[in-house]
Amino acid sequence: MNKSNFIISLLLVSIISCTEKKKPEDDVALKSKGDSLINQTFDTLRNTLLKAIGEKGFPGAISFCNTEAMSLTNTYASEEITIKRTSDKLRNPANAPNSMEQEVISAYLQLIKDNGELKAILKKDDAGSNHYFKPILLQAMCLNCHGDKTTRIKPDTWEAILQKYPADAAFNYKEGDLRGIWHLTFLKNKNQ
Ligand code: HEC
Repeated sequence: MNKSNFIISLLLVSIISCTEKKKPEDDVALKSKGDSLINQTFDTLRNTLLKAIGEKGFPGAISFCNTEAMSLTNTYASEEITIKRTSDKLRNPANAPNSMEQEVISAYLQLIKDNGELKAILKKDDAGSNHYFKPILLQAMCLNCHGDKTTRIKPDTWEAILQKYPADAAFNYKEGDLRGIWHLTFLKNKNQ
């Protein structure tokens, strides 16, 4: 390649990479859309769960979670957006993390060790889809089913958990612990 060709290709490359670069306001919009979808999903899950606990008690609410949690998590999902909850300590193996999710969980666990702040994360994959992650922290009421299995989870609740989830690992947590993450995928070419 001669010198002028080289300069032209250099110019082209920089023009292309400039136009492909995401504007910061795109990230802000994705984050705020992600936040509002996660808040809505969390409210739906929490309110429906509280209603089930009120009606059937904790052991009864375990069967309710078993059949309803997955579809409730998808209440606000669409053709353009998928919504998932996952964790490093699973109750339902169907919620297992993929490699990207595993990386995010490990990064959050490291931040906790380093006393860092757990912030939401926006990532782009090789196919061009954006991914939004947020930590799920445990509240006091969650400990009825995810807390210390000898002192916090009642025996009849624990029995109901083991019946549905014999390999359960999602217990012995304390309030404020990282229970897992939300993962929203904004599928490329569908909404951008
Ligand atoms: C009535 C008992 C109960 C309560 C209370 C409860 N959970 Fe769960 N949780 C479950 C069950 C059962 C599952 C498995 C659901 C499924 O089969 O998809 C689960 C699954 C999860 C998962 C998905 C990952 C996994 O391990 O499968 C997360 C995250 C989670 N719970 C967080 C919370 C948080 C945060 C709270 C409090 C706001 C909470 N849970 C309160 C019973 C409970």
